[in-house]
Amino acid sequence: MKHKFLTAAMLAFSAFAGPALAQDSGQPTTVTIDAGRPGPKIDRNIFGQFAEHLGTGIYGGVWVGEDSAIPNVRGIRSDVVAALRAIRVPNVRWPGGCFADEYHWRDGVGDPAKRGVSINWNWGGAIENNAFGTHEFFDFAEQIGADAYVAINVGSGTIEEASDWIAYITADERTTGGRERAANGHPEPWKVKYIGLGNESWGCGGNMRPQYYADELKRYARFVRSFHPEQQAAPNMMQRVAVGPSDGDTAYTEGVMEAWSKKDWSWDIEGLSLHSYTVVRWPPAYESVDFGAQEYAELTQATLKMEDHIRAHSAIMDKYDPDKKVALVVDEWGVWLAKLPGTPEGFLQQQNSLRDGIIAALNFNVFARHADRVRAANIAQMVNVLQAMILTDGDKMLLTPTYHIHRMYLPFQDATLVPVAFDAGEYRQGEVVLPRIDAVAVRATDGKLWLSLVNLDPERTADVRVAIPGVRARAAAGTVLTAPRINAINTFDAPDTVAPQPISGRAADGAVALQLPAKSVVMVAIEE
Ligand code: AHR
Repeated sequence: MKHKFLTAAMLAFSAFAGPALAQDSGQPTTVTIDAGRPGPKIDRNIFGQFAEHLGTGIYGGVWVGEDSAIPNVRGIRSDVVAALRAIRVPNVRWPGGCFADEYHWRDGVGDPAKRGVSINWNWGGAIENNAFGTHEFFDFAEQIGADAYVAINVGSGTIEEASDWIAYITADERTTGGRERAANGHPEPWKVKYIGLGNESWGCGGNMRPQYYADELKRYARFVRSFHPEQQAAPNMMQRVAVGPSDGDTAYTEGVMEAWSKKDWSWDIEGLSLHSYTVVRWPPAYESVDFGAQEYAELTQATLKMEDHIRAHSAIMDKYDPDKKVALVVDEWGVWLAKLPGTPEGFLQQQNSLRDGIIAALNFNVFARHADRVRAANIAQMVNVLQAMILTDGDKMLLTPTYHIHRMYLPFQDATLVPVAFDAGEYRQGEVVLPRIDAVAVRATDGKLWLSLVNLDPERTADVRVAIPGVRARAAAGTVLTAPRINAINTFDAPDTVAPQPISGRAADGAVALQLPAKSVVMVAIEE
């Protein structure tokens, strides 16, 4: 186990970096940035989010209704919109998740008083009154400035139902769908940036064999179309995302990619989904708040398996798709913990600690290192569910450590990956051996060189020397996220316990010296 991890870590750091040696010399760690050798673009869509009809993720968290005393615009709460705008959410995936494969879109359009009412069987048996439907979703996406990622019902729906839905959303008023949408109050068609052709079809989406799913996929990929005039040619066409693997299981990766490699002109996909949660074991039992160094180390180790999974699936995809036409879309990821005491079964409510912020940063670093294949991802989930950015309680709202990480990583959106080399060192907790430091450098769209540094060690500060061969690095300045305890959280009474603080580094012999606090994430711009 230990050996396996170290091997994985070393490979991780050498995939787009110099070789990493696992040792802890007690000396400052030198992070060498090869600024003259730019790598692939980091698609901003790796910072996508996921909003499912689940618990209070939509109802209460996003949608309060126009008559609510909570300030809202057309029923969508304004505090949540303002917070999400500030982290420039590139895309939002909706309506599920497992919910998507039982969702019938007609229940959610037209007169709210006449909408379908059903039981959300997957998630706590809650009554679903469809107050938040297609128009409300697109209004929400527009309010936060995000593109739409619509997951269609392959499990219990039909191709006709799915193609009618996307026609309703995207076609103009000369068509039946477009006329109906206009009659329901929105004459202009909307764009669908991504379409999910099913969800977890190996599990809650119908438990299909990969080959059976691949046959279904061909028909959905062929017949469910965007008619939006601006989506008729590359690069703006709707991106079709096929159901792909879970964690390290490669059956769907093989099955779908093999089918894709034999495709003819009649169908295509642009993405293959990967779902991989940080959970250690099922059912999720690790606590949100009441945990110590051992649980921290085990969950962090589980998170770092993301790199192994991406590497394994990418290798299979490379076999069928060496030109990397099909993106790996990690459209469900995040830490899945035990439910908070007193919260309903199936609502997946958990707190969000500094540990979870570190876990988010490590995942972003993994995605960035694999930017050539991982071109979109969606954290699960946006508000009040699993590893949320935002928690609400009635009219109260707080921003989680994971939210702050999203804000700190804004320079990574559409940046260019820049190689780094460093000795990751080791942090040991019981039998768990983790790298002590992680680092990723990027050239942002504003031309600045940004460096993300994570000190995984919950006890010891880490001294880092940032060197750029051929360049005199003059200074570094940015923000750090840390707290006195690894399980520190933000609460409605104390919402800023875990919040970014300024940090800077000083010039020393042509390099920049930085001190990373224990258990911290640092994001700095390097002055060249
Ligand atoms: O995010 C919660 C659930 O996890 C989703 O509905 C499902 O796709 C996954 O199993």
